[in-house]
Amino acid sequence: MKKLWILILLILGASVTIIAQSEILIPVSTQNSDLIFKAGDDNRLYQAYFGQKLLQTPESDAFPRPDHIAYITSGTDDLFEPAIRITHNDGNPSLELNYVSHETEKQGDNVTITHIRLKDPQYPVVVILHFKAYYLENVIEQQVEIIHQEKQPVMLYNYASFMMHFDASAYWLTQFHGDWAEEMKMQESELTSGIKIIDSKLGTRAHMYQTPVFMLSLNERSDENHGELIAGTLGWSGNFRFLFEIDENNSLRVISGINPYASEYSLEPGRSFITPSFVFTYSNQGKGLASRNLHKWAVKYGVMDGGQPRYTLLNNWETTYFNFNEEKLIALLDDTKKMGLDLFLLDDGWFANKYPRDNDRAGLGDWQENKAKLPNGLGVLTREAENRNVKFGIWIEPEMVNPKSELYEKHPDWILKLPNRPEHYYRNQLVLDLTNPQVQDFVFNVADGLMTHYPDIAFFKWDCNRMMTNAYSPYLKNKQSHLYIDYVNGLYKVLDRFRQKYPHVPMMLCSGGGGRVDYGALRYFTEFWASDNTDPLERVYIQWGYSYFFPALSVCNHITSWGKQSIKFRTDVAMMGKMGFDIQVNELSDKELTFCQDAVKNYKRLSDVIWRGDLYRLISPYAEDRAVLMYVNGGKDKALLFSYTLNPRFGESFNVVRLQGLDPVKTYAVQEINQFPGIRNILSGKSLYTGDYLMNVGLTVSSSLPLTSTVIEITAE
Ligand code: DGJ
Repeated sequence: MKKLWILILLILGASVTIIAQSEILIPVSTQNSDLIFKAGDDNRLYQAYFGQKLLQTPESDAFPRPDHIAYITSGTDDLFEPAIRITHNDGNPSLELNYVSHETEKQGDNVTITHIRLKDPQYPVVVILHFKAYYLENVIEQQVEIIHQEKQPVMLYNYASFMMHFDASAYWLTQFHGDWAEEMKMQESELTSGIKIIDSKLGTRAHMYQTPVFMLSLNERSDENHGELIAGTLGWSGNFRFLFEIDENNSLRVISGINPYASEYSLEPGRSFITPSFVFTYSNQGKGLASRNLHKWAVKYGVMDGGQPRYTLLNNWETTYFNFNEEKLIALLDDTKKMGLDLFLLDDGWFANKYPRDNDRAGLGDWQENKAKLPNGLGVLTREAENRNVKFGIWIEPEMVNPKSELYEKHPDWILKLPNRPEHYYRNQLVLDLTNPQVQDFVFNVADGLMTHYPDIAFFKWDCNRMMTNAYSPYLKNKQSHLYIDYVNGLYKVLDRFRQKYPHVPMMLCSGGGGRVDYGALRYFTEFWASDNTDPLERVYIQWGYSYFFPALSVCNHITSWGKQSIKFRTDVAMMGKMGFDIQVNELSDKELTFCQDAVKNYKRLSDVIWRGDLYRLISPYAEDRAVLMYVNGGKDKALLFSYTLNPRFGESFNVVRLQGLDPVKTYAVQEINQFPGIRNILSGKSLYTGDYLMNVGLTVSSSLPLTSTVIEITAE
């Protein structure tokens, strides 16, 4: 009867609150997965089930003995890692959480929000688990909110966004790690008894050494099309921690959230502490489906303006570095036009006068045009861009300061640095104290000031070239352990303000390479710079790594001269994501220029398939001396295949590749594009095949010559 009433209320669009009576099941469901909690008759909240969608939601007496408390507290009877640890204002270091109530609400047709309210029976501390389930995309976001009404602040030590239990025979963890210019190296290993932690303590960014993403396969390793797994990532642009603990029964608990390292947080009565979102998806058809789920979710909900087009661009970083003037830049505007690109992006080096930004040792913080390089200001460039019908974008790094700058001289108290210790530099710079509202205003004004003076600015690249070391905030005084959290929240406040005023100006997120990408920041950014390493051979691996979690339209790939491979190889590699150029256009031969112009046209024609199509990773560069992947659009009438031959041994040849994701009964025209005059094609002319043939028999798509590539367009007749 209770169910019937709930159904009627749901149909009427009302939210439902259920007060614990006996045992209650609380499902958080998507099209293909169920996460089911059970409020037990002992008042505790248990995780009853997570996995493949059940045909029917069971009755509440199902799951007779769930062992796993949903959000484990600390200080009482559990001896393993807790999701939450706090000390009450009277010094009691324990917390118990009982189920109180839950509510669900619909946000449109696709999104269901569930709030589960828990409370300590003795203390006025409430913890709310918030879930946002995206039905069609099979993605769930989880956040946790902590509130109390104690007389004095409560100290929070651990405050996970997500906790989940698994009971499998074995657990295989896929993780990604790296460093500057070698991001996203993939590793897979079996978890063993005890704790494994993946974390970062960089302060201003999430990854660089470890990336805040993982895939966890249950029972056995998953491949692209087989295996049961969860893929997850934390939407937080600072320190993160993923903890995996296998207990004496071979049960695994996974705890994800902000890294509690040096981050105990004193929470005032009546204030909410809300954790960042942990975003996850379940797949029982391997890693490929998990990635496609995340991509679909990201394009619709996770990346700013995922449904909008992206600009193709010419960037001047690797072609000029700091050495340019008005004349050179105007020539680059001509090149932008000549190449058929949408936008010219002016990089670092355009600002500062007392300490000119002629290298990375000076000027950061002084955001006025450098008079020697730009005597007529940026206005000339925006006007000249408009005259050529191209857009103009600009680089900023507003969170940072060089000691050699006027900003440093004027506001030493705005800088993160330890008292009584020498300053510690990384790329000759220091981090501004974004916990301080005055600094937040300053950072906002850098971007807002540019937009106000030059409303034609159509794009920003927002850089962040160092992590925190010797971290100490003059503003936070005796609350230093709030620094890592308040810094990121300060940044988000600035970005919120910017987005309120400029909701759609595209912005690239950059951090000395891809060190900052996460879904917390991507709410404000349309794309990110994947790595400073633009050698296409390295890029195949780096882009392959990002593809597990981030959609192609968000991954900026520029064709540069870092690698010495052919222009075709460089272009074809960049084309699998958001393509741009950073190259001396005037040094291209006629054939190369024509090739690039045609490639830009092809890219514009096909970008929707790349940006929003379903990705199938067909051959991994970790498995063979080549990488092959394809994108298929929603209607299965257009697909694009990329094959990159890496460094095969002499005489090595490759098998045919079976395509995926097509319609077996459709007939497809298959044709090689991005052909370079004089380079032998893999396919001759245009051929017709059924989807069935392409997916079961396959095609020869790779040359055995080192550092060559093939791009194949597949179109339903
Ligand atoms: C680091 C970025 O990753 C580069 O692309 C470039 O913008 C430099 N910073 C500029 O200083």
